[in-house]
Amino acid sequence: MSDGAAPGSALQRYRVCPVDDVPEGGGVLVDLGGREVGVFKHQGELHAYDNRCLHQGGPVCSGEVLGVTRLELDAGGEVVREYLDDSDRRLICPWHGWEYDLVTGELAHDRRFRLRRFEVTVEDGIVYVDA
Ligand code: FES
Repeated sequence: MSDGAAPGSALQRYRVCPVDDVPEGGGVLVDLGGREVGVFKHQGELHAYDNRCLHQGGPVCSGEVLGVTRLELDAGGEVVREYLDDSDRRLICPWHGWEYDLVTGELAHDRRFRLRRFEVTVEDGIVYVDA
C-alpha cells in the first residue's frame, strides 16, 4: 500500500472538468490516461483518489459517500439518540464495504493505511489532477 506516487515517477497534469460539475458531498469518476480517479468535493475542498480499494482492488471511488452514524449516550451508557453526522463523510467501497475518510483517504478502521491520493488544483474554474 502506498501514499502518493512512487519516487521518481513522472506525473502528468490532466484537465478533469469544470469545478461546478463535481457535486458537493459527492464526486465524479474520470479516466486519466488509463487510470481511473475519483474526484470528490467536501465542504468546498477537492480530493482525488485512485479508484482501487486497499482490500481487494475494488472500484472504491464508484461507491457511495455517506455521513457517519453517531450515538449519543446518557450517563449510564444508554443510547439517547442515533444520528447521521454529515460533516464526517465516508467513501464506501461497493465490493465489501470498507470505509475511507473522504478528506484524508484513510481507512476508517485502521488509519495507518490510506488510498493513493493525487494533487488537485483549480484554475479559472477548471479542475486539474496530477496523476
Ligand atoms: S475490495 Fe473494497 S472492500 Fe473489498
